[in-house]
Amino acid sequence: MKKSDGKLKYNIAVFISGRGSNLKSIIKYSKQEKACYNVRIVISNKKKAGGLLIAKKYNIENYFIDFTKSKRLGNKVINILKKNNIDLVCLAGFMKVLPSYFIKSYNGKIINIHPSLLPKYKGLNTHKRVISNGEKFTGCTVHFVNRYLDSGKIILQKKVLINRKDNAKSIEKKVLEIEHKIYPKVIVKILSNP
Ligand code: GRF
Repeated sequence: MKKSDGKLKYNIAVFISGRGSNLKSIIKYSKQEKACYNVRIVISNKKKAGGLLIAKKYNIENYFIDFTKSKRLGNKVINILKKNNIDLVCLAGFMKVLPSYFIKSYNGKIINIHPSLLPKYKGLNTHKRVISNGEKFTGCTVHFVNRYLDSGKIILQKKVLINRKDNAKSIEKKVLEIEHKIYPKVIVKILSNP
């Protein structure tokens, strides 16, 4: 990907709705000298998202905008992204489907992480459903975002083994650990690809 403003590092925006543990791992990775990106903007559609505090702690420009509700707010977000020369938008626990005009304006430049081996278990409560279906494996997937829920082209998946003692909570923990490792690496991979 070509850097949009000729700077040394790529600029990324992270969209969140909740606690922001993936956001944190993405920021932490960016602090290494070798990292090719900066987290320039954090946008939350929830006012009380814990991830906003993480953004503040790291002095990252952050906004609460529930933009999926209105086109006017969506355009406001697009303007913020353009003004900040955002090369890639990373959804990390962002719990809303993006409107299609928004996806069009950042076509091929929006990615998401989902806690299952897509195309299995799209949507919410993945770990609970995986356990009640007696699956032997689960995992996480990073994929491009299109206008259908959790359905864009898959970039990377990692498997996690489910033991007999596992429950939804323990699986969430195992899967999150893997998410934190792979998401920053996928971001680098996407940005470094011409
Ligand atoms: C993660 O499991 C992510 O895969 C899913 O939502 C969760 C967000 O967790 N989309 P966090 O806010 O990054 O801690």
